[in-house]
Amino acid sequence: MAQIREMFDQIHKRYDLLNHLMSAGRDIAWRKTCCKKLPQKENAVVLDLCGGTGDFSLAYKKIGGEPKLSIAGDFAGKMLGVAAQKDANLKLVQMDAIKIPLASNSVDIVLNGFGMRNIPYLDLAFNEIFRVLKPGGYFATLDFFKPEKTIPKLFYHKIAPLAIPFVGMIFSKRNAYRYLVLSILNFLTAKEYATKAKKAGFTLRCINALDFGLAHIVLLEKK
Ligand SMILES: C[S@@+](CC[C@H](N)C(=O)[O-])C[C@H]1O[C@@H](n2cnc3c(N)ncnc32)[C@H](O)[C@@H]1O
Repeated sequence: MAQIREMFDQIHKRYDLLNHLMSAGRDIAWRKTCCKKLPQKENAVVLDLCGGTGDFSLAYKKIGGEPKLSIAGDFAGKMLGVAAQKDANLKLVQMDAIKIPLASNSVDIVLNGFGMRNIPYLDLAFNEIFRVLKPGGYFATLDFFKPEKTIPKLFYHKIAPLAIPFVGMIFSKRNAYRYLVLSILNFLTAKEYATKAKKAGFTLRCINALDFGLAHIVLLEKK
């Protein structure tokens, strides 16, 4: 865990740039699409878990969500430091996703962009997210899941292992971007992820493949 935190702290300066470069800017559209799938809730408390540099919280605000309180939670302090520069109203809380320092039934929406894949104890994170959500609250995951279909399989098995660490080496840290590819190949499929979430008590609302299945949205509800 400490290694993952240090890795994100090391890449914080160029994290956003590399995100946009490697996804050809699609990460921006993916976050927006995901936020639009959420029900609009007035005076919502929104937790962007594994919020990093804050882009998911900002995307939620941009689509018109006006949270009463917007919290970015992440264990990498330097990533949160970048988020602080983007939005002074964002409440930054350094936290581990498996031990969220918030009261039970206190959050309306939990967002998680490209974060769950990095958590070794996924069940503990699901339990914590379920605990902090209010009944009727939503948990939206946007991530790169283990590929199932031909195009994403070809991309993540053949192209990404060469291209992504190469771009990482030029602009940032090669090992972090080697890790990125491995973490995708070693992750669950979106369906497996939803099945695990259901075991923690969530109700599945939808699974959406984005750009031929290169990324997915998994929308869950705490009924
Ligand atoms: C790939 S970045 C995603 C950042 C942001 N959500 C986005 O949409 O670009 C993953 C983030 O998850 C954080 N993270 C990974 N494991 C975590 C954990 N167990 N608890 C809290 N944050 C974690 C990392 O520090 C990093 O900032």
